[in-house]
Amino acid sequence: MRLCINIDHIATLREARGGVEPDPVTAAHICELAGAQGIVCHLREDRRHINDRDLRLLRESIKTKLDLEMAATDEIVKIAIETLPELVTFVPERRQELTTEGGLDVRGHRHHLRDVIAEMHRHEIEVSLFIDPVLEQIDTAAEVDADKIEIHTGEYANARSEREQMELLEVVRAAAKHARGLGMGVNAGHGLNYLNITPFRTIQEIEEVSIGHAVISRALFVGLDRAVRDMLRACRGDV
Ligand code: PXP
Repeated sequence: MRLCINIDHIATLREARGGVEPDPVTAAHICELAGAQGIVCHLREDRRHINDRDLRLLRESIKTKLDLEMAATDEIVKIAIETLPELVTFVPERRQELTTEGGLDVRGHRHHLRDVIAEMHRHEIEVSLFIDPVLEQIDTAAEVDADKIEIHTGEYANARSEREQMELLEVVRAAAKHARGLGMGVNAGHGLNYLNITPFRTIQEIEEVSIGHAVISRALFVGLDRAVRDMLRACRGDV
């Protein structure tokens, strides 16, 4: 299971003062030096954290792979094509939300998504769709020619008991198997932390996890290098 680090929170802290630090680009380099296998950022329409300069410098300087989370809007699609990340992950975006809440409604937006995915493929950009672990949504993701899905693990992460968590783990497992069966790659993310990542190691189909909040929070106390290394160990199971 590869670990990609979402660095949006570093930019959120910078924007709290509207200055130049901490710099998410420096953070990305530290994550890579610690062993992260990819860098994730979300260029929101309102630029509340990551901005165009960050994206440009990330593209120029990171050595692993860039996963650009984005809404499928004309403006951001144009920027993605100019930037050429290795992967774009389409997410729903609402201005009022604190973070991405809920997966994409692929069924409801399938005509638009099919067109935008085709456009990305013309530029040799792989496409992932961030969706809830719902089989019908996964079927539609395959129909619109997505290369991968990212399973929204928010419900699993918010489980209120161990029993509920194990039930929701099985929902994620079934979704991952279903997507693999349809020939798509499987990533997962949202709300994953140093503890709830452990059972994920039993889902062979999950190739990659995208984690932000837990790692950046731990970094405040132990430093970013150690926080990333700790999460890599948790992903591997040697904690
Ligand atoms: N994947 C997606 C699509 C997200 O929107 C986010 C949050 O930015 C994450 C993963 C990472 O979630 P968290 O910050 O809770 O680890």
